[in-house]
Amino acid sequence: MKELELTQPISWLDGVDPRTGRIIQEGHPQRGQSIAGKVLRIPHSSGSTVGAYIFFALKEYGTAPAKIILKKADSVTISAELAGIPVEIEGGKEVRLDAEVPEEFKRFLEREASIVGAEEFVRVRSVHVSGVSYATIGDWGRKWLSRISERAKAKVIATSNPAGMDILNWREMGVPEDFSRGQLEIVEYLTRMGVMPSLTCTPYLAGNLPRRGDHISWGESSAVAFANSVIGARTNREGGVKTIVAAVTGLTPKYGMHLDENRLPNLRVEVSSEGWSYLDYTLLGYLTGEESPSSVPCYTITGELDDIKGLGAGGAASGSIEMFHLGSCPVGRTLRFSQKDLEELRERMSSFDGGTDLVVIGCPHLSLNQLREISLNLLGRKAKVPFWLYTSRAALAQLPRSTLASLERAGVKVWADTCMVVSPLERMGIRKVTTNSAKAAKYLRSLRGLDVELLRIKEIVERYTSPA
Ligand code: F3S
Repeated sequence: MKELELTQPISWLDGVDPRTGRIIQEGHPQRGQSIAGKVLRIPHSSGSTVGAYIFFALKEYGTAPAKIILKKADSVTISAELAGIPVEIEGGKEVRLDAEVPEEFKRFLEREASIVGAEEFVRVRSVHVSGVSYATIGDWGRKWLSRISERAKAKVIATSNPAGMDILNWREMGVPEDFSRGQLEIVEYLTRMGVMPSLTCTPYLAGNLPRRGDHISWGESSAVAFANSVIGARTNREGGVKTIVAAVTGLTPKYGMHLDENRLPNLRVEVSSEGWSYLDYTLLGYLTGEESPSSVPCYTITGELDDIKGLGAGGAASGSIEMFHLGSCPVGRTLRFSQKDLEELRERMSSFDGGTDLVVIGCPHLSLNQLREISLNLLGRKAKVPFWLYTSRAALAQLPRSTLASLERAGVKVWADTCMVVSPLERMGIRKVTTNSAKAAKYLRSLRGLDVELLRIKEIVERYTSPA
């Protein structure tokens, strides 16, 4: 059987075309080669946890690899087992799970434990399910969820990631009818399983706030980084499919970020955050993820909680950074970045300069504070182009009416339940978008096929609004 060895991590969500089995990840050394029918050796995966659903698509199109051999265990890739693609790691040994859980999921957890070298399982206090948008999991994910939801129920608190549309206002958004049908079905299957339709990538602001030290099983790479680094809970970067297994069984193998020794910093990142805005934090995370994709960095910076949320999202999008530290860092391997490095990345990620179709802000979802801040920035201004903000339904419910009215007066629309990346913007006539998040910029290009302009919020306000 033919073998293919990938010399860099692969982003399953947008790095492989399931119809052809070819690698399409920008800048990947094996770009253009096919994984179909091969024994595929990979270091590990990178990027979004939603990528786990691609394995069902690869199977359906007949482009799946015959087997995947991992160098470093990661839950996203191990999810291939549930689609019938064998996954191995060199030197793995058999592990048994003694628990009353559905047989299919028991086998998966045993397999995962053996691949990662875990000797025991831990009970998780909460789960966050990723892979909810019809735009990212498609019919292959919808069918799998339909089948599973008939017999499986969540045992622990479980929230869900953004869907592909505002569930209440999708017509007003311009989402096509056929898309809405698939999306509503997916939300229905998850709700039937007992997963809360929180539909946000900030579950910690929407009723799923674990305690320090809790073992949890979360998908959504930005929320994983936040949970480990800020909350102090313990989760690996779980694949979307695995989060369903964890919700139904309440269990996960004890490895990776569940163990103290893997949570220590192993990289010092020196940079000054003076005068930074949100975009700079997302760029710093992204640069670090590019340079050192599986590190536990320690950043010599400070920032508001919302900025730190963006930092984690950036590092998880370009790499697979599951945890980071802030402040006083041990001396050791060091990366030094300057403002010039961030600016160069911003330019590299921007493909146009002026003349956007749509401004999209809220990756990860905007908090109440961020919504307030944006409304203050827009006081006395009027948007010259469509200007959309994305938040959770939970935050929107708490937003004072006066703030919402002020945003509306500025010509700004606030959507809940969805985001710019997981909604089908390209089917809604959008070609060029402007955003202030490196993670959004990456996926808007690779998943939605859009031109992207990456700017700081102040620059966006100056360029795309005028005095009212
Ligand atoms: Fe959240 Fe969508 Fe960004 S899920 S982290 S807003 S890509």
